[in-house]
Amino acid sequence: MNLQNTRILVTGGTGFIGSRLAQKLLDSGANVTILTRKIQNSPFKVIIGDLTNPNLQFDQKFDVVCHLASVTPLEKNKKILHSVNYDGVRNLFSAVSGAKLFVYISGLAVFDSACDLITEESLKKSDTEFVKIKIKAQEFLEENCKKSGMNLVVAHLGDIVYGNGGFFKSIVFDRIKNGTFRIPGDGKYIKNFIHVDDVTDALIAIMQKGENDTYILTDSVPVSFREFVNFLADNIGVKRPGTVPASLAKLVLGSDAINLLMRSTSASNQKIRQIYDFKFTSYKEGLNNLIPILKNENEH
Ligand SMILES: NC(=O)c1ccc[n+]([C@@H]2O[C@H](COP(=O)([O-])OP(=O)(O)OC[C@H]3O[C@@H](n4cnc5c(N)ncnc54)[C@H](OP(=O)(O)O)[C@@H]3O)[C@@H](O)[C@H]2O)c1
Repeated sequence: MNLQNTRILVTGGTGFIGSRLAQKLLDSGANVTILTRKIQNSPFKVIIGDLTNPNLQFDQKFDVVCHLASVTPLEKNKKILHSVNYDGVRNLFSAVSGAKLFVYISGLAVFDSACDLITEESLKKSDTEFVKIKIKAQEFLEENCKKSGMNLVVAHLGDIVYGNGGFFKSIVFDRIKNGTFRIPGDGKYIKNFIHVDDVTDALIAIMQKGENDTYILTDSVPVSFREFVNFLADNIGVKRPGTVPASLAKLVLGSDAINLLMRSTSASNQKIRQIYDFKFTSYKEGLNNLIPILKNENEH
């Protein structure tokens, strides 16, 4: 699909990933609208709306919908989780009838962590409320996109998207830098990382292809959380963080978030690499590029 002048709705377009995606789409000539709950200055067309509104309606049509808005496993209130991450998907789907393509953002957490190497074909497993809701929302879209003739792409993002923003910057980078970050448990669990620029560029490649499909978006080097954090600390030039017992971390961040973080999984990016050439194929390349930018920003 040629994205030039294509009408694209980005939900979560004020967020860490969505704002960068919307800007790249605008730069490439697309007609970009974002959905947000709060009025703001924006280079994009803006619709003020809340996904949890069962009467959500738009007075314009879209060719492509990229659905990034969601609440994270850090949300402890299950009612909010359900109303944004499931009801929100249903409400959005009803409001965008007639679109050609729906891109749904999910995560690796929906796959069974017992797999040695997760691929797009791996089995799913609901082992937390957060995951149960994500799987239910995906099933709703699979059934209803098919019925209505809308193409559906499900993009499962790596566990941690890193870049200049989001929870990576506020919870991981800034806290490692100021010495308040602690690794939950022993940190030996394997995680999958991806630079935010690779997420947004890969999503654009997926939209250009425009076909029904599922992709895992992660770099080529799954690594233990501890190694990632230590590499970051060493290259910022600060002390490596210590650990905190998982039970204590759960009290602070909630059990879903910590259970998901402490699952060890490796995922394959073989499929996305057939249509997208990664800028940063490993976390080391990505962080080496990013750290000077973040350090420089903190100094000004
Ligand atoms: N960041 C990561 O490491 C990571 C990893 C794996 C998967 N993901 C997935 O990637 C997607 C984007 O993540 P992110 O880190 O960019 O998110 P983020 O920065 O936390 O942004 C969340 C976005 O969701 C919107 N939103 C939340 N509740 C809403 C509601 N009720 N109605 C309308 N909009 C609502 C917010 O918009 P307003 O506040 O402006 O209304 C905001 O733009 C999410 O689906 C996330 O689960 C992220």
